[in-house]
Amino acid sequence: MCGTDHIVDQLQNLCTECQKPLLAHYDLDSIKSTFTPDAVRKRMIRSMWKFWDVLPVNDPSEAVSLGEGLTPLLPCNRTGPFEAFDNLFIKDESFNPTGSFKARGMSAAVTRAKSLGVETVALPSAGNAAGAATYYSARAGMGCAIFMPEDTPPANIIESVVGNASVNLVNGLISDCGKLVKQGKDRFSWFDLSTLKEPFRIEGKKTMGYELAFDFADHAGTTELQLPDVILYPTGGGTGLIGMWKAFDEMEKLGWIGSERPRMVVVQAADCSPIVKAFEAGEEHAPLFENAATCAAGLRVPIAVGDFLMIRALRESGGTAISVTDEALMDGVKELSAHQGVYACPEGGAVWKAAQQLLESGWIRPEEKVVLFNTGTGLKYNHLFSVDGLPVIDHNDPTCLDRL
Ligand SMILES: Cc1ncc(COP(=O)(O)O)c(C=O)c1O
Repeated sequence: MCGTDHIVDQLQNLCTECQKPLLAHYDLDSIKSTFTPDAVRKRMIRSMWKFWDVLPVNDPSEAVSLGEGLTPLLPCNRTGPFEAFDNLFIKDESFNPTGSFKARGMSAAVTRAKSLGVETVALPSAGNAAGAATYYSARAGMGCAIFMPEDTPPANIIESVVGNASVNLVNGLISDCGKLVKQGKDRFSWFDLSTLKEPFRIEGKKTMGYELAFDFADHAGTTELQLPDVILYPTGGGTGLIGMWKAFDEMEKLGWIGSERPRMVVVQAADCSPIVKAFEAGEEHAPLFENAATCAAGLRVPIAVGDFLMIRALRESGGTAISVTDEALMDGVKELSAHQGVYACPEGGAVWKAAQQLLESGWIRPEEKVVLFNTGTGLKYNHLFSVDGLPVIDHNDPTCLDRL
């Protein structure tokens, strides 16, 4: 925010001057001739590390990787409520290791931490980041301390316990968990991996932006990179959104794309929508959202250190911010499941319902290319659905199928 430069080859969290996030810069001019779309296409690297030139390594072999990224861009079936869109797509991040897009950020951050000699990382998490941090640090041979709200989805808690992280449940929100990491990091020699307080998670997540450009070129059957008209992103800390915005800027500097940009849309839950509130009020920063509550655990982020970066991206892109009720987002999960074959996370359900609202209001036009980010698998949220009362068929009864 204040523009102060920091040396890259050292462990660091926030800017030492303004206490805001640090963003990595690359000497793009010097890699322009070798880092080309064509060269990337030819690389035999089956992960986001295909883009290693703009990631925190000197060589792709340094990466702590579980095969993250390169997720599918699915054109939506035009059935039921999806019929109203001519060009709707789902970037399905549930394919990532540990079932969410958090894998991208953790792969980059753990790679960096490992190369700088970190022994134990610590982080607050709404759930999916914990799973990713657990398994990437396991892969790297590092310790991992996690602080999660006690009502984090059980699947996330179990995943981290099984992965041998030190799991600490907290009677508060993710912001309270973050305070504990801050308090304990010197005492326990942890490196703080909190989103945007660590400079490289965003680098991993920006690969979603690079991939979209290739995905849309492939979809159009051309080699010319292309971006969609609108991107809807389920927003907590906002790292993915800020990351993609950064990726587009880098791609333009590399000469890969022009100056046109997708309109970026922040989607939040109605009862935890600090960015929506700040954006609507014309503010640059979003204060703590009191009594934050939503079943979409990843959206339960009442305050975000990168608030101004998100709001800037929204304004510069001509985008917007919108909220969705919990009831609507759960309907969204069911519609994505039944019509698209995608068992979406509630956060993914939220972006679909937001797209519908924006189409109805005329903000999105039917012919526009629109991307919904399904940031994780619905399998981690099974606890939100009940199958009680499903009848059990007695297979010994010869008439059992008569009652179907
Ligand atoms: C499934 C899911 N979607 C979206 C988010 C929000 O991500 P970000 O912090 O990048 O805004 C999270 C964060 O926990 C998440 O788990």
